Amino acid sequence: MNKIVLLFALISYLRVTAQNGIAIIPMPAKMVMPEIPGTFNITKNTTIVLAGSGLEKSAAFLNDYLQHLFGFTLKTSEKETGKNSIVLNYSLVINYDEKNDHLPGAYTLESGENGIRITGDNETGAFYGIQTLIQLLPAEKKITLAIPWISINDKPRFSYRGMHLDVGRNFMPVSTIKKYIDYLAMHKFNNFHWHLTEDQGWRIEIKKYPLLTQVGSCREQTLVGRKGKGNEVYDGKKNCGFYTQEQIKKIVKYAADRYINIIPEIEMPGHARAAIAAYPELSCTPSEPKKVAQTWGVFEDVFCPSEITFTFLENVLDEVMALFPSNYIHIGGDECPKEAWKRSAFCQQLIKEKDLRDEHGLQSYFIQRIEKYINSKGRKIIGWDEILEGGLAPNATVMSWRGEDGGIEAAKQNHDVIMTPTSNCYFDYSQTKTEDSVTIGGYLPLEKVYHYEPIPAKLSTAESKHVLGAQGNVWTEYMNNPRKLEYMIFPRMSALSEVLWSPKDKRNWQDFERRLPALKKRYDFWGAGYSNAH
Ligand code: ACM
Repeated sequence: MNKIVLLFALISYLRVTAQNGIAIIPMPAKMVMPEIPGTFNITKNTTIVLAGSGLEKSAAFLNDYLQHLFGFTLKTSEKETGKNSIVLNYSLVINYDEKNDHLPGAYTLESGENGIRITGDNETGAFYGIQTLIQLLPAEKKITLAIPWISINDKPRFSYRGMHLDVGRNFMPVSTIKKYIDYLAMHKFNNFHWHLTEDQGWRIEIKKYPLLTQVGSCREQTLVGRKGKGNEVYDGKKNCGFYTQEQIKKIVKYAADRYINIIPEIEMPGHARAAIAAYPELSCTPSEPKKVAQTWGVFEDVFCPSEITFTFLENVLDEVMALFPSNYIHIGGDECPKEAWKRSAFCQQLIKEKDLRDEHGLQSYFIQRIEKYINSKGRKIIGWDEILEGGLAPNATVMSWRGEDGGIEAAKQNHDVIMTPTSNCYFDYSQTKTEDSVTIGGYLPLEKVYHYEPIPAKLSTAESKHVLGAQGNVWTEYMNNPRKLEYMIFPRMSALSEVLWSPKDKRNWQDFERRLPALKKRYDFWGAGYSNAH
C-alpha cells in the first residue's frame, strides 16, 4: 500500500516537474502531459515527414532554427519513415472541440514514444505547431534534443496579431527587419505593420520619384537626447537609409514564408516633411525652405490637399501596392496640424468649394479620396484614430492609439478596429520608473502589457466582433540600433503575444512570471537583447 502511494506521489511529482519545465509563450489553449512522463529525442537522424503540400516552409523554418542554434538540420521526406520522425500534416477537421468559433491557425501537437505529429487546420496551423515545438527544444546547445511527451490542442484568439516598426525615425537594416519578422513568427504574430515614411526619413524606393530617397532618406544630423528649449544638441552626422524595391520584394516573401502579412504605411497628410523636402510642391508653402526633420515631434508643414499631391500619392501607392500584396494599406492620418491649411488661400477655397465644415472636414476629404483610390485597386485602408475626425471614410479600419475611445466609436459605427492604445501597447515607453536609458517617456511595465484586454467592456457582443485584435507599436526616436530595439520589445512583445493568442481564461500573470526565466534563457540563446525590468 505504502509503495503504491509512494509511486503515485513520485509520478505526480515527475509530472508537475515536467510541466513546470515547459514555458511555451503564448500559452497554448490546452496542454496535457501523460501520467508517466517521457521524452522523444530529436537527433541528426530524425526525419521531418511532409504529409501535405505547402509544409516545406514549416520544415525550412525548423531546419533554419536547428542549423543556426544547434548546428544540424533534419532531412525531409514525403513518406512516413518510422518512429524517429516529426510528421507534419494538416486536416480541415482537426481534433478540436470548439470548431464553431474557429480562426485559421489551429493545430495539434502530439509528442510520444512514436515520435512527434503536428496537424494544422491548414499550412498556417502546421507552422504554428512548429513554433510550439521550437519552444519545447532546449535553450542551450546540445546534440540530442529531448522533447517532453505532451499533447497540445491550440488555436488563436484574435485574427489580427500585430507588431509595428517605425523605420522613419531610425532606419533599421534588412538583416534586422528579417530578425524582427522571425521574432514575430516565433510568437505567432501574423501582421507586421511597417511604418516606412516619416518627417525624419522616407525609406522606400519609389521609381517614379527618385528624389524621395535621394533627398528624403537623409537628414543632415540628429538631435541628441531629449528636445530642450532652444539648447538642443545635434550629433553633426548625416543619417541615411532606405530599402530598394528588390530588397522589399525579398522581405515580403520572407514574411509570407512565415505566414506574416506586411502592412506598409505611407503616412499622410502629416509626418510628411521628408517627402516635402524632396518635392516642395507637395506643401502649401513650396517657396519656403524645406529640410528633412532632425528632431522628433509633430510639424506644421504637411501635404497640401492639391491635385499635385493626390497625383503624387496615387503614383506612390501604385508602386507600394505592386510591392505589397496586403489587403490593408495603412495611410497614417495621425497628428496632422491644421495651421498650414488654415493659412492657405488654396485650402480655404477648397473647403468652400467642397462645402466642408472646416480643416477637419478637409482632412476627412483627403482620407476619403485616398480611400476611394485604394478601394478602386481592390485594397482597404487602415488609419490612426484621427481619421474619425470630420467623418470616417466608408470602408476604413481604425487603429485606436489615443486610448480606446476611437476604437469604441469606430466599432459602434460598424468599422473594424485594431487596438493599439498608448496605455498598454506603446513599446517606446520606458519599462522602468527611473529611466535606465533614454526613451520617449511614459511608463509601460511588462505586467500592464500582459493584463491588456483588447475587447473594451463598453462594446456589445456584436460590436466587439469588430475588434480584430491588437498591436504593439515601436516608434524608434530613441532606438538607433538593433540592440536597443530588442531591449525595448522584449519581453513586452512576448507578453502581448499571449494577450492576442491565448484563450482569455488561460492568461495568468503568475504563471507568465514563472515562465519568464525560461523565456529569458531562450532570448540569451537567440542572442537577443531584453529588459530585466519587471
Ligand atoms: C501615433 O503614435 N502617432 C500613431
